Amino acid sequence: MKEVNVNINGADASTYPIFIEEKLIETADEYLKKYCNASKYLIITNEKINSLWGEKLKVQNSEKFIIPDGETYKNFETLISILDKASELKMDRKSAFIAFGGGVIGDITGFAASIYRRGVDFVQIPTTLLAQVDSSVGGKTAVNNSYGKNLIGSFYQPKIVLADTNTLATLDERQIKTGFAEVVKYSFIEKSCGKNFNLFNFLYDNISEIKKLNLNYINEVVEICCKLKASVVNKDERENGLRAILNLGHTYGHALEKISNYEIFTHGEAVAAGLQVCFDLSLALGLISDDYYDKAAELINLFEFNLPEHPYYTPEKIAEAMKFDKKVQNGKVRFVLPTGTGEVNIFDNIDKDLLFKILK
Ligand SMILES: NC(=O)c1ccc[n+]([C@@H]2O[C@H](COP(=O)([O-])OP(=O)(O)OC[C@H]3O[C@@H](n4cnc5c(N)ncnc54)[C@H](O)[C@@H]3O)[C@@H](O)[C@H]2O)c1
Ligand SMILES: [Zn+2]
Repeated sequence: MKEVNVNINGADASTYPIFIEEKLIETADEYLKKYCNASKYLIITNEKINSLWGEKLKVQNSEKFIIPDGETYKNFETLISILDKASELKMDRKSAFIAFGGGVIGDITGFAASIYRRGVDFVQIPTTLLAQVDSSVGGKTAVNNSYGKNLIGSFYQPKIVLADTNTLATLDERQIKTGFAEVVKYSFIEKSCGKNFNLFNFLYDNISEIKKLNLNYINEVVEICCKLKASVVNKDERENGLRAILNLGHTYGHALEKISNYEIFTHGEAVAAGLQVCFDLSLALGLISDDYYDKAAELINLFEFNLPEHPYYTPEKIAEAMKFDKKVQNGKVRFVLPTGTGEVNIFDNIDKDLLFKILK
C-alpha cells in the first residue's frame, strides 16, 4: 500500500493521508471509519462514473447524488443542487461529502463541503489520472462563472484521499493523456519541489509499460507525483510563492484553452503544448543546455500528446489571453521556466518580441 502524507501548516493546520492502490473503492469503508467517521455520507458523482464503478464503492450510511457530467456543470447551479440535496437529506455538521470522480467532481464537491453548514468533512476518491496526480491533492476547490474558470472557490483540505488506480482502466486515451501531461510536468520541476525521485528517468526508461497503464508502474508514478505536490503544498498552501511552480506550461496552456473556448483541447493537451513553449523560451534565453532541451522534447514526444488542429491559434490571440490568466501579477505575464534538470524558476519579465517569435 502506498501512502503519502500531506501536512498543511498555518492557521488551518491539518494532516491527511493519500492512499494509492488497486481495489481501494471496495474497501473504502474501513478507511472512512478510521479517518473520517462521519454520521452520514453524501457521495457526489456522475452517471458515467456511477455506471462504471458505482457498484463497487460501498459506503455504509450513505446517499448518492448524481450531477451532470462535464466542465460546463462545474457552476453555481450544480453547487446549489448539491447543497439543497444535503439539506433535504438533513445532513448535519457531523456528516461528510465524498467526491467520487474526476477533477470536476472533486473541485465542486470540495467547495460545497467547505460552505455547507460552515464546513463539513470531505473525502476525495479521484477516478481520473489527472485527479489522482493533481486535482485531488492540495485542497483547491472551485466552480466557474461566466467570467472564467475557477474564479470562485476556497482552500479546503480533504480528510483522506483514496486513489484507486483500478478505476483508470475505463478512461479513454485522451483522458489518460491529459493526466500524463501533468505527470511529465512534475518530472521537470521535482528538484524545485525539494525532492529528487528521478521521475524523468523513471518515465523515460519505462515509457511503454507506463503508456500501457501497467499498474506496477502507474502506482509508483501516482505516488511520486502526490509526494511532489504534497511537498510544495506543505510549504505554500495558498500559492504565495512556491506553489506557482506547479503551473509550468499553464500560462500558455490556459491561454490556448481560453481562446478555443475550452472545446478543442483537453487541459493536458494544452499543458503539453505549453511545456514545449516553456522549453523553447528557456533555450532562447540561455537558461538550459541544448542537451537538456533535446531530452525534454523527446520525453514530451514519447507521450504522443497529438494536439488537435487549432484554427484559433495566432500569437496575438494567445498573448492577449495570457494577460487575463489568473497568474498575472501587476500586469506582467508570469512564466515558470526550466532552468536545469528538474529545476524551474518564475520569470515575469519575458520580452514581448521573444515571446512572439517563439509563438510563431
Ligand atoms: N483543484 C485543483 O488543484 C485542480 C488541479 C487541476 C485541475 N483541476 C480541475 O480539474 C478538472 C479536470 O479534471 P479531469 O481531467 O479529471 O476532468 P473530468 O472530471 O471532467 O473527467 C473527465 C471525464 O472522464 C470521466 N471519468 C472520470 N472518471 C472516469 C473513469 N474512471 N472511467 C471513465 N471515465 C471517467 C468524467 O465523467 C469526464 O467525462 C477541471 O475542472 C480543472 O479545473 C483542479
Ligand atoms: Zn494543470
